[in-house]
Amino acid sequence: MNKEHNITLIEGDGIGPEISESVIKIISSTGVKINWDKCLAGNNAYLKYGKVLPDETLDSIKKNKIVLKAPVTTPIGEGFASVNVQLRKYFNLYANVRPSKNLPNIKTPFNNVDLIIIRENTEDIYAGIEEKIDENTIHGIKLTTKKASEKICDYAFQYAIKNKRKEVGVVTKANISKLADGLFLKCFREITKKYPNIKTREILVDNLCMQLVVNPSQFDVLVMPNLYGDIVSDLCAGLIGGLGIAYSANIGEFNGDNFALFEAVHGSAPDIAGKNIANPTGLLRSAVEMLKYINEHEAAEKIEKALFTVFEEGKILTSDLGGKNTTNEFTNDIINKIKTL
Ligand code: NAI
Repeated sequence: MNKEHNITLIEGDGIGPEISESVIKIISSTGVKINWDKCLAGNNAYLKYGKVLPDETLDSIKKNKIVLKAPVTTPIGEGFASVNVQLRKYFNLYANVRPSKNLPNIKTPFNNVDLIIIRENTEDIYAGIEEKIDENTIHGIKLTTKKASEKICDYAFQYAIKNKRKEVGVVTKANISKLADGLFLKCFREITKKYPNIKTREILVDNLCMQLVVNPSQFDVLVMPNLYGDIVSDLCAGLIGGLGIAYSANIGEFNGDNFALFEAVHGSAPDIAGKNIANPTGLLRSAVEMLKYINEHEAAEKIEKALFTVFEEGKILTSDLGGKNTTNEFTNDIINKIKTL
């Protein structure tokens, strides 16, 4: 495709700018034309505007409808709602899709992990509804609605069909959370009736965690409420080699339009920021999903192929994956491989 795309880029904090630069260079080497609208969010936005999510950034997202976002730091202090949670709520990014699949030559306890976590992204304790009853007692509300539960369960089945997956499992703790998780489970069971050709399963979240560290290959697509999705997807990132390589897509609808935000799963890693040693793979794989979303499939395939070749060779790797190379060396190796494709 020769189309030019307008995309909002949040370079983020900590290692964000370094890994963003790497990803922009790699995408640009494929020939895809993107006008990056660079916007601030997180700590750097707070320092400039006194707000972690300035209006300029929201306006850019409203205009472009697609965001590539590097990790941000939430300034320490009371009253700062997480930028991620704010963005998900504002643009109703209701589905958080987090794939976990082994990468070539990355040694992990299992070599046959290939599962997708679909996390409800707007409700549960992330709705931020808490009240102080007295000095020693807090009530935290686990918001669960039929509308959002049905929507995410339906999305999981649609995802399964589009990606030729065979099974969708629902993860809850409905034996204890009889009302909230009970409703989520009920909605799942209702939605399954629309999709008789997809296999289904029901599993409690504690059992799921045990099964994942014993036999992860038994799982295919798993849909779950927000908090379980947050925790279980980090566990799954660990199954395939750690946070540095995990990626995600946040999909939603706002004012009748489709919106999507692509980001790595990891945080801003302040301990290694500015050292040119961060692994850009998580953000790069998020960007590959973004390229597929905008129908730049050839570029997406090239990047995936080059990245997998770098891993297969195992010569140029960042230190989180046992290598000795810098972010720049890793980036240049991918670009050199793209040029040969
Ligand atoms: P973190 O994910 O930033 O770091 C955890 C560990 O993983 C650190 O040792 C770090 O060096 C390493 N690591 C993370 N990404 C890496 C990469 N790409 N390459 C190599 N090593 C990597 O988690 P932490 O320390 O809990 O959070 C730091 C900050 O990030 C906090 O302010 C937190 O709020 C924020 N955060 C932001 C997220 C986002 O914007 N999506 C998600 C998670 C945390």
